[in-house]
This record gives sequence, C-alpha cells and structure tokens, in this order.
Amino acid sequence: MNDERPRRLVILVASPRRNGNSAALADAALRGARAGGIEASLHFADDLMQGFLRDCRQCRDERGRCRIDDGYAEFFFEHFLDADGLALATPVYWYGMSAQAKAFFDRMFCFVARSYPDSQDVRTRMQGKRVALLTASEEMYPTIALSLVNQMQEYARYTHSQFVGTVFGQGDQRGAVAGDPQGALEAAEALGRQFFERPHADYRIDSVR
Ligand SMILES: Cc1cc2nc3c(=O)[nH]c(=O)nc-3n(C[C@H](O)[C@H](O)[C@H](O)COP(=O)(O)O)c2cc1C
Repeated sequence: MNDERPRRLVILVASPRRNGNSAALADAALRGARAGGIEASLHFADDLMQGFLRDCRQCRDERGRCRIDDGYAEFFFEHFLDADGLALATPVYWYGMSAQAKAFFDRMFCFVARSYPDSQDVRTRMQGKRVALLTASEEMYPTIALSLVNQMQEYARYTHSQFVGTVFGQGDQRGAVAGDPQGALEAAEALGRQFFERPHADYRIDSVR
C-alpha cells in the first residue's frame, strides 16, 4: 500500500435493487468511510457486468483479452485493483450470495489465468487488500450468511487479503434494514469509518504476539 495517499475503498453493491437493503448498507459504509478520511466509491454490479464468465479459450481475443464487452474490465483495473479495500454488499439469495456478487469473483478469473498476458501483474495487485462483507436478508439467525462468510474468508486466504468485518442486516422490503434490531446501518457506518484501522489478528501457532 502507498502511504502517501488516502486509502481507497471500493464498495460494490450486488443487488439489482438500487434502493434496496444492500444499497442502504453500502451507503452507510460509504458515509462512514468518507467521514474517516477514506477515498471511497460505490458501484453497482449491474452497471458493470452484462454476463457471466465464458469459456476463456473461446472468448479471448488474439491478444489474450476478454471479449465480453461491458464495464467489468474497466472497473477491475481502474477501481478494484487500485483500491486498498473492498466491501461487498449483497443480498442473501437462496442462502448464498447473489449471482451478481458471484459473477464479480468469477470474472476475475479471466485476468488471473495465465493465458492473460499481464496475469502476473494482476495477481500481484490483487493481494494484500482488506475485504469486508455486508449482507441483507429476510431471515435472521446466526448462521444465515455462513456460506457467504466462508467464501469471503477463502477468497481472502487465497489472495493474502485480510477479512476485517461483517455486517448482517435484516430486512426484506426496500429500506427495511433501517429497522434492523441490531443496528445494521450504524454497524455498516462504523465498519466504513474504521475500515483500515480495525485490528486484524489471524494468528498461527508460531505468530509473534
Ligand atoms: C431470489 C431471492 C432469494 C432470496 N433468498 C433468501 C434467503 O435464502 N434467505 C433470506 O433470508 N432471504 C432471502 N431473500 C430475501 C432477500 O435477501 C431480502 O429481501 C434482502 O433484503 C434483499 O436485499 P436487497 O434489498 O439489497 O435486494 C431472497 C430474495 C430473493 C429475490
């Protein structure tokens, strides 16, 4: 990370509802981040992606680049890779993340695969970010978003990222997350504000403490 500039946080909303609960959580995180001096931006997955990952062998052009003609590559290179952190805000769909959220991860493959000419540079730039997860769901019990947490943790492990926080918001109708009994919007705002300050301790038995 470059200490000369403010930390950059990318917040990705992976719900088709512009004024839904994931967006409300993301907005709260954005507010908090900006209040904390973080350079934060919010993006909707639906604006970036018009399709799923394809068979790269069929799809790549003669220079090894992805042929899917949408905003993903620009977002990936100009925003995500440049950022120090990612907060993913997704609804819980069928006890997993939304298809948009999953496609965001799947589509990275195109640039990470060796058949992409600059994949080594991409792999280097993907490492060491802070990541966090914000979920919106109708149901609320302690394990409602377990599969999403698990995926995020494995993503973080694989990319040498630090998984620094979760907020599980309860709500079904648009905006209902504002009434979350555990104060999800306040928690999202606090997560945004402290995104790069929150202690992250993931010890191994031989860690020096
Ligand atoms: C396709 C679909 C699947 C859903 N599956 C679940 C589910 O498994 N568990 C749950 O609690 N809510 C489920 N919901 C409800 C949403 O998670 C809930 O309405 C959430 O607040 C939507 O977030 P959004 O406003 O950001 O779109 C589902 C909704 C849809 C449309």
